Amino acid sequence: MRTAHRTPVDNYRGTCGLRPMASGYETLHVVGGTDTQPGAWPWIVSIEGPWAAETGHICGGSLISPQCVLTAAHCFTKARHITMWRVVIGATQLTQLGPEAQVRNIKRLLVHEHYSSVSERNDIALLELDQPVQGSDSVQLACVPDASLRVSELTTCYVSGWGSINARCEFLKTARVLREAKVRLINVNFCNSSRWYRGAIHPHNLCAGYPQVGIDTCQGDSGGPLVCKDNDADYFWLVGVTSWGRGCARAKRPGVYTSTQHFYDWILVQMGLHPAVTATPTSRPVFTSTPFRGQGQPRPVPMQADRFTPCPFPHQKLVEFFNLLQELLQVLQGEKAPAAA
Ligand code: ARG
Repeated sequence: MRTAHRTPVDNYRGTCGLRPMASGYETLHVVGGTDTQPGAWPWIVSIEGPWAAETGHICGGSLISPQCVLTAAHCFTKARHITMWRVVIGATQLTQLGPEAQVRNIKRLLVHEHYSSVSERNDIALLELDQPVQGSDSVQLACVPDASLRVSELTTCYVSGWGSINARCEFLKTARVLREAKVRLINVNFCNSSRWYRGAIHPHNLCAGYPQVGIDTCQGDSGGPLVCKDNDADYFWLVGVTSWGRGCARAKRPGVYTSTQHFYDWILVQMGLHPAVTATPTSRPVFTSTPFRGQGQPRPVPMQADRFTPCPFPHQKLVEFFNLLQELLQVLQGEKAPAAA
């Protein structure tokens, strides 16, 4: 006997940033990159193209609502036939998806309108999935912080991905199992100094890694999450999207990330959630990093608490509508004046 079918978008419990499968955050302390346990980073997704070798893995991403993935714009510079790509959620090993894994197609791709492939400015994109993803112990939403979170004060940060484990980054090689590494946030001004990145870092970037050789993200990790644990509670903030770096794991060349906080309003607008709507007094405290102690402690809420509203991309829908209207008008005009030159 099967139990009655429930709505497909369930089990997130209106929260985000939690890791039900990670037994204790303290035990995760890593020196270098290590393989992860199943479900360790429940919001990470693998974005896969039909032409790429083996599993097709191209980039990482993070599930921020049941139907939206936040990732990097540069993952799609050569993208064709985006509806033939797929997104894998809830996986650890890409060659052998477990029963927890869910696979979706991409319904819509939204690259930041001011993304520049030359300067890697605004390296951020959203994917709308064809179907919502069901929450579980292995599938959770990531929390995107608004401007009130003091990101630079967060000290327990991790990167994760299926990217190259070859520090020289010579080949685009996909790791067999999802990997993770603990990283430190590096002051952006320092990161931009003459011996480091010499001004290549934009104000909306974060630098994370180490001054010395050894631990970093690499090719194939792009689009994936840089997360930091809240200073006072047991949930993680998605503070960065893996963007670029000079080589991988080189001295004074840490990973460069797009700061999600700087694009908070952009994300809301693309998702059809106007900033003014979500910044209500009741939802606001959950996005801050103020100490949450005692009873009635607010929990973080995902960007899209309304589970029945998919990621609607209203701007694109409007453009599509006007294009159709224009076509219709042309057809009508053509019919009215068929002999016109
Ligand atoms: N651009 C790379 C990608 O497409 C990510 C590079 C990250 N590099 C680094 N040194 N942290 O996968």
